Amino acid sequence: MISKGARECFVYIALPGQVELVTAARFMLGTDRAGNARGELVYGRSYLSRPDAVPIDPVELKLAPVTYQTLNMKGMFGALRDASPDYWGRRVIERHSGSGELTEVDYLLYSSDDRAGALAFGLNREPPAPRRHFNQTIDLAHLQDLADRLIAQENASEQPLPAVIQSEQVQELMLLGTAMGGARPKVVVEDSPPEGGPPVLWLAKFNRTDDRFNHARVEHAMLRLASECGLHAAESRIVQAGHRDVLLVRRFDRALTGAGYRRARMLSALTLLRSGDTHQDRDRWSYVILVEELRRLSGDSRADAHELFRRMLFNALISNTDDHPRNHAVIAMDTAFRLAPAYDLTPFTPVSIERRDLAMSSGDRGRYANADNLLSQCARFLLTRAEARALIDTMEAQVRARWYATARAAGVSEGDCEHIAGAFAYAGFRFGTPATS
Ligand SMILES: Nc1ncnc2c1ncn2[C@@H]1O[C@H](COP(=O)(O)OP(=O)(O)OP(=O)(O)O)[C@@H](O)[C@H]1O
Ligand SMILES: [Mg+2]
Repeated sequence: MISKGARECFVYIALPGQVELVTAARFMLGTDRAGNARGELVYGRSYLSRPDAVPIDPVELKLAPVTYQTLNMKGMFGALRDASPDYWGRRVIERHSGSGELTEVDYLLYSSDDRAGALAFGLNREPPAPRRHFNQTIDLAHLQDLADRLIAQENASEQPLPAVIQSEQVQELMLLGTAMGGARPKVVVEDSPPEGGPPVLWLAKFNRTDDRFNHARVEHAMLRLASECGLHAAESRIVQAGHRDVLLVRRFDRALTGAGYRRARMLSALTLLRSGDTHQDRDRWSYVILVEELRRLSGDSRADAHELFRRMLFNALISNTDDHPRNHAVIAMDTAFRLAPAYDLTPFTPVSIERRDLAMSSGDRGRYANADNLLSQCARFLLTRAEARALIDTMEAQVRARWYATARAAGVSEGDCEHIAGAFAYAGFRFGTPATS
């Protein structure tokens, strides 16, 4: 067990094409004179001298023999924050450690090594061997049960750390996916791909017993609908665990080779926007700013700018108002970064049929999920007005025509379809702009 209160660690990375980790840097968390948390990162000399070294973050942490410092986000650099557990993983770790008083370094150290991206963390200069054993789909019923119990205990108690989970269960909790981000319960499992061949890694997302509809099936349907609408979306399927549906989303940041899993570097849009989760940071949550960053960073900026436009449009058309910047990312399996496939697509049905807001600004009228607003900044997405209009008209027609059949084919029940029906191509989407076709 790791001692609590750790304030520094080594940062390891899997280099492009490699399976083994190498030591890249040291990260230290301290405080400045005013008592604010300050993070420092220094690349190792031997890492910098490697011809194949890649930066942990090509914008904020370029390869250079300097001490990087940040006072933002409790001293966390964006790339490290992306590799840290989020709401779900933190709850698991706090239960496991028996303490809510952990440093950000503790969260990095406690979380398991199946985190998104190519980074890993530890207290030894030498990196650990890559993990070879993963949860299997056969374990899902048990893992789901563990997740249910954790949630039930949280719901039942105001106490942050009720003593109901007993020690052997506490050990087991770490089987739950602690390092992958997001708020919903999830684990990482290894399973064969539908096309056959060696197993691949999947993110397994559980339904919660207090969900109002079958999230697994609905998210699966939205990923399918996104593909039908021409988006590059993560592959998914549904499996049963203890008679309940579990969504498996194939991990796009891992690729199996003979020697093990290669890992893609991954940065969230939150990091590309140099932004945090707080209210003040929300000014920077913007597709329009994101596309500028993408144009600087991407290995194919034109294709990715168009893809981001389609994604913003799709989110507006399915009222996915939870499209916050952790729900977009770039990945680099080799040296070049590309926009990652779309993931975490959920339709919402806010009461208003006149105005719904995305989580990120999408044009001159801010976050308004509206065709005219999306069109207003189309040039930044390297689209002419005519091209953008055509994309909007086509996708709107596709979503209207296809959402129901796609949902039903994905096994969404009639009742759940009724529940989500109001999400698709809501009236306000067209306020101000009649469809051209
Ligand atoms: N297919 C995938 N391959 C690799 N990483 C992924 C994949 N899908 C999601 N992730 C990573 O896992 C994180 C959590 O996944 P996801 O967003 O689906 O969970 P969530 O709990 O529904 O999130 P939220 O809190 O936004 O509702 C993402 O932010 C992303 O970093
Ligand atoms: Mg998410």
